[in-house]
Amino acid sequence: MNREEISRIAHTDHPIKSPLDDAAVHRLLAKGLRRGDERVLDLGCGSGEWLLRALEARPQASATGVDLAEGSLAQARQGARERGVAERLTLHHGPAAEFASAEPFDLVLSVGAAHAFGGLLPTLAAAREHLAPGGRVVIGDGFWERTPSSEAVEMLGDFADLATTLDRVVADGWTPVDGHISSRQELDAYEWACWGTLAAWALDHPDDPDSAEVLATAHLRRSEWLRVYRDTWGFLTLVLQRTPDGR
Ligand SMILES: C[S@@+](CC[C@H](N)C(=O)[O-])C[C@H]1O[C@@H](n2cnc3c(N)ncnc32)[C@H](O)[C@@H]1O
Repeated sequence: MNREEISRIAHTDHPIKSPLDDAAVHRLLAKGLRRGDERVLDLGCGSGEWLLRALEARPQASATGVDLAEGSLAQARQGARERGVAERLTLHHGPAAEFASAEPFDLVLSVGAAHAFGGLLPTLAAAREHLAPGGRVVIGDGFWERTPSSEAVEMLGDFADLATTLDRVVADGWTPVDGHISSRQELDAYEWACWGTLAAWALDHPDDPDSAEVLATAHLRRSEWLRVYRDTWGFLTLVLQRTPDGR
């Protein structure tokens, strides 16, 4: 079974593919959708859940999603049809760094996809290229709550601590106007949703040729979470606006 299919099963019970609960997603989206007729872009949209919720909440808004995973985009397309927002959603298959648009966007989202650009600041640089004057960015990425092991850095990438992360964002010309630090409950709920759902799928499909491999993957990923990064990794989602020049 390929990675995309494993990811699809693992996120069945947690369609937001990042460690945030529904209330946090709702609040962060509201901070970016103040007028109601925004053009919204999601760089690394996955199955489009942020965009679908934005479109449901704001009937005048329109949205564009970009992702490398064709299966996730197919899920986004189907979700948009089921939720009656398909006419306002455009999806692009390809690398987010290569996406170009003639029109800017009022809200640029990129949550859990900074690796697509090589880190948080390069992701913000890309978001800035697409941002309309006065627009907002909602960006989610990891940080270290405690000093990580070298194994954790190798597995998840090299992040900064929370305060340093904010310092870097501010020094890059952005003002945080809101933010959300995922709670221990959100972080744990996300991991349990992923690896528990995957394990349950394997037990529910004992005759599937992939069942044993999927169960082994679920055990491995749960163990990596608990042994390698649960105690040191955190997740931060920021709502940002450009800082006026000279401030
Ligand atoms: C952790 S998921 C987050 C999805 C979504 N933002 C969410 O929060 O539900 C990361 C997504 O980034 C996508 N991705 C990774 N590299 C990418 C790239 N270079 N260009 C576009 N998308 C990419 C993956 O396919 C995946 O859907």
